[in-house]
Amino acid sequence: MAKEIDEQPVIVKNSINEYIDKISRQINIYNFPWKINQISSIFLVGCGTAYHSCLVAKYWFEEYTNFDVTIDIASEFRYRKINFKNNCLYVFVSQSGETADTYAALDLCKKNKMKTCSIVNVVESSIARDSDFVLPIHCGPEIGVASTKAFLGQMLVLYMLCIKLSFDQKKINKKNYQEKIKNLLSLSNLCKKTLLIDSKIQKASKSFIKAKGSMFLGRGYSFPIALEGALKLKELAYVHAEGYPAGEMKHGPLALIEEGMPVVVLAPRDEYYKKTVSNMQEVIARGAKVLLVTNKSKNEVLSENIWETIEVETLSEDLFPFLTTIPLQKLAYYS
Ligand code: BG6
Repeated sequence: MAKEIDEQPVIVKNSINEYIDKISRQINIYNFPWKINQISSIFLVGCGTAYHSCLVAKYWFEEYTNFDVTIDIASEFRYRKINFKNNCLYVFVSQSGETADTYAALDLCKKNKMKTCSIVNVVESSIARDSDFVLPIHCGPEIGVASTKAFLGQMLVLYMLCIKLSFDQKKINKKNYQEKIKNLLSLSNLCKKTLLIDSKIQKASKSFIKAKGSMFLGRGYSFPIALEGALKLKELAYVHAEGYPAGEMKHGPLALIEEGMPVVVLAPRDEYYKKTVSNMQEVIARGAKVLLVTNKSKNEVLSENIWETIEVETLSEDLFPFLTTIPLQKLAYYS
C-alpha cells in the first residue's frame, strides 16, 4: 500500500499524458459516442472508494456543467425502482471492473437500453467489456485491497471528463478551460511535494489507534474526502472512524465528541473555509484533538488550540481533493 500511495505522482502524470494534449492544451476523449446535446443528466454509480470519487465528481459536475447529477451506491442502485431516462449517461466507477454490485447496476442499465460509460483501472474487466464506452484510469495494478492510487485516478478522469463536457457545453470559456488544464499539468508535482509530509502524520497516527473512535469532517468536496479518510482508517487499522459533513455535526454527532478524541478537520482555504473553521472550534471546545488538514497560505489559521496542522500544496480549489486525500491515506497506513 505504501508503494501504491507513493506511486501517485506517477499515475497522475500517466493519466494526464493519456488524456491531455500538452501542445494544443485540449482534453482528448476519443470516440466519445454521444453528442453533447444527447445528454442532459449524469448518474454516477460505484462502491466503497469508487463511490466516494463519484461523490467528489458530483460537486464538480454541478459547478461546471448544466447536467442534473445523481449518484448512488451500486448495491442500492441495483435494487431501487429507477426511472431510467434516455438522455441520461450512466457512469460506473470501479477499480477492478469486477465488483458484483457495480456490474449488476450496469447490467440493469444495459437491459433498459441506457447509455453506459465505465471508469475502470482494469480494462479487460467485465464492467469495461459490457459498457458502451470506457475511460481507463491508467493506474497500473492495484494490489492493496484498500484502494488508494485508483481513487486519485478515478477523481482525475472524472474531473477531466467534467471539464471537457463543461467546455463543450460552453459553460466555461476557453481561457478558464486552458487555465484548468495548465493547473492539471502541475498536479503530479504537487502530489509529490504533499507526499513529503510524513513525520507529523506518523506521530498523529498513535492517537488514532489508541482512541475509542475518531471523526473526519469536511464540507463541499472535502466531505467525500472525509468519508474516504474514515473508510481507509476503518479498513486498514480496524478502528472506529466516522466521516461526516462538518455542518451536520450539530444535529447529533457532536454529542460523541469527548475529551481527547482525535478529529480530522479538512479545511482548505476555499469557499467553505470559514464555516468549517467554525465547526472545528465547536469540536475543540468539547475537548477534541483536532488534526487540521488545510493548504499552505500566507494567512494564519483562524483558530486556536489546534492539536496538529498539516498543510498541503496550493494551486487551485479544484485540486484540493487530490491533495487532501494523500495525508489521510498515510494516516491510515501508519495507523
Ligand atoms: C471494496 C474495497 O471491497 O471494494 C474498496 O475494499 C473498493 O477499497 C471497493 O473501493 C470497490 O471496488 P472497485 O474495484 O469496484 O473499485
